[in-house]
Amino acid sequence: MKKSILSARQLCKSFAHNGGQIHVLSHIDLELFEGDFTVVMGASGSGKSTLLYALSGMDRATAGQVFYEDRDLVSMKEKTLTSLRCTDFGFIFQQMHLINNLSLLENITVPGYLNKNRSAAGVREKAESLLEAMGLGHVKTHLPSQVSGGEQQRCAIARAVIHTPRLLFADEPTGALNRASTIEVLNLLTRLNQDGQSILMVTHDLKAAVRATRILYLEDGKITGELSLPPYNAKEEKSRENQINVWLNSLEW
Ligand SMILES: Nc1ncnc2c1ncn2[C@@H]1O[C@H](COP(=O)(O)OP(=O)(O)O)[C@@H](O)[C@H]1O
Ligand SMILES: [Mg+2]
Repeated sequence: MKKSILSARQLCKSFAHNGGQIHVLSHIDLELFEGDFTVVMGASGSGKSTLLYALSGMDRATAGQVFYEDRDLVSMKEKTLTSLRCTDFGFIFQQMHLINNLSLLENITVPGYLNKNRSAAGVREKAESLLEAMGLGHVKTHLPSQVSGGEQQRCAIARAVIHTPRLLFADEPTGALNRASTIEVLNLLTRLNQDGQSILMVTHDLKAAVRATRILYLEDGKITGELSLPPYNAKEEKSRENQINVWLNSLEW
């Protein structure tokens, strides 16, 4: 039986707009499991990013609860929430948010140095080994502007996992990349997942969704569909894509 890692109960999120309210998420019940590569799909504007921000405590839900290890992120004090996000969660985005005047290695070590519980030498050693494992050893002293978009995003992934988060959140991580870089980044995420990293990724790209072990479909503020898949295997890419396409068509995607 899979272990639950995060669960949302009756999650709602609205935004004040022009004197009224926009209801983006409506009474969502959802459970995420350890070891899964969960993908959220849905049309642009369906609330995928809003859901990811509410589940990860980057933003607070308007109503409902998000339980992580029996603690509710929605009612948690800001300071506790910030510290939880730094220790237990990792984040990657469409834009990599690397610091332009730091090398790739420094981009990974600097946030680690800010963590008082870790030795600088330990952080550096971990960063070096992550960069090697991610095929970036030969460009570790380069600036972000001196490497490809795919290499930048792989560096951002290294930064996101250096503290071994229990859950890695990814918002359209391949949205700004060309085809070749997209495949590099997806291969890395797939490998991390197959090594045990739990991932929640939002995307509207079928090429990215095909890596999932579980896909949720978001529409009108609710989860209206769910598909489970066996672990990704490149040889079955076409048949997985077909399976997902048939499922999406049944949801009138
Ligand atoms: N801070 C905000 N204020 C007002 N409306 C917002 C805000 N953030 C998102 N929205 C609205 O919520 C809806 C969902 O947005 P989003 O979660 O970004 O969708 P997606 O990631 O699926 O494209 C959109 O209609 C968007 O305009
Ligand atoms: Mg979005």
